Amino acid sequence: MTTDSLEVRDLTSADDEQALGVRTRSFGKLDEASRTWWKSVQAEVIAQRRVLGAFGGERLVGTAKGRSFSQFWGGRSVPMSGVAGVVVAPDYRGRGVASLLMRALAERSIELGDSVSALYPATLAPYRRSGWEVVGAQHRITIDSAHLRGLGSPDVRVRPGSKADVERVQQLLEHSYTTRRANGAKLLAPGDIEDALAEDSFSYFADDGFVLYEWHEGNLVVTCLVAGSKATARALWSMVGSGSSIAKQVHAYVSPDDPVSLLLPEEAAHEVFQNRWMFRLLNVSAAIAARGVADRVSGSALLSLMDPLLPSQSGTWRLEVEGGRAELIRTGRSDEALRLGPNGLACLYAGTSLHTLRTAGLVAGGRADADDFLDAAFAGSTPYLLEYF
Ligand SMILES: CC(C)(COP(=O)(O)OP(=O)(O)OC[C@H]1O[C@@H](n2cnc3c(N)ncnc32)[C@H](O)[C@@H]1OP(=O)(O)O)[C@@H](O)C(=O)NCCC(=O)NCCS
Repeated sequence: MTTDSLEVRDLTSADDEQALGVRTRSFGKLDEASRTWWKSVQAEVIAQRRVLGAFGGERLVGTAKGRSFSQFWGGRSVPMSGVAGVVVAPDYRGRGVASLLMRALAERSIELGDSVSALYPATLAPYRRSGWEVVGAQHRITIDSAHLRGLGSPDVRVRPGSKADVERVQQLLEHSYTTRRANGAKLLAPGDIEDALAEDSFSYFADDGFVLYEWHEGNLVVTCLVAGSKATARALWSMVGSGSSIAKQVHAYVSPDDPVSLLLPEEAAHEVFQNRWMFRLLNVSAAIAARGVADRVSGSALLSLMDPLLPSQSGTWRLEVEGGRAELIRTGRSDEALRLGPNGLACLYAGTSLHTLRTAGLVAGGRADADDFLDAAFAGSTPYLLEYF
């Protein structure tokens, strides 16, 4: 069987039970709380036209959603489609349904203004063939609580958070991602911040930072900690560690270069867990224009892009870099252009070195001096995401 007989269309709330059925056959049964959460996300993506289904007649056989997020690249915000809930009914798998949905979702995300897309893959193959590539990871470190407690509590005024702090969290995150020129990190959605500020969660604020954390199986999990100074970092981390008599360990979602490793007297991360994510450019010129690049690099390079999923962006482009910004300009075919597909372009954008890309066979051709220029333009910190979606 092929996918020719299938129709891809927007889901409505009338499809919720069928969608849950395909989901259950893919990821297992949801408990009551998770079902409520799933329904609220589903209502949000239905209202935004961000969830598609593949139908065989009236039967729903696969779904995919692309949530609207703001992801930072080179310290600047880029509209990102966070792909989730890609599921296909068992009797329809292996026939190209996921590929069909990924194409339709990419086109829809572009229509809604997204320039890039990210996803956490359960398996790489369906996404890799559609042009998404592994560029970063969610990092979780595990620290003995007593070490955090030992950081001491400098004289920093800390207050509990409340539901009124949603905007403050977004401001502090935005400021932090801009000043550290973050790559990959996304802003928390207002609904997720509200949950984290609920009365039975832990949220504490200093003037230049905050921490959000929660219980997990007798230990503590820091979902987000932002500190604008060493004193605030020590105060917030040591407050988490103050629970060390009960919670022996703290799991923390952090950037790979989080300063906590430099504050602690011993190796901070006994254990590092990485959940890799994949990435794709949906609208190459908008994505390049939105991103920040190295301030002191200027020059140009030719790129020849072959994008089978989104063929309208295939062709030869000149990348111009000047004053911390970049631009892609369509140009005529050239034998000197670096040849790459969407997977290579995703990695280049995310700062993967040209040496790595050539070794992996993701780029070919081009010129050695252009490699140096591209490496310098896209150089920056390791891409990461704090949260799963
Ligand atoms: C993963 C899943 C969505 C793939 O759907 P599908 O319709 O079978 O995928 P497609 O037929 O479009 O396959 C596309 C490519 O991925 C490969 N592929 C699909 N499922 C795969 C798997 N589980 N492991 C390895 N490769 C896989 C196919 O072989 C095909 O490769 P090819 O083009 O080289 O032939 C489906 O198996 C599923 O619902 N699984 C359970 C839920 C899940 O894991 N979802 C993904 C969450 S990120």
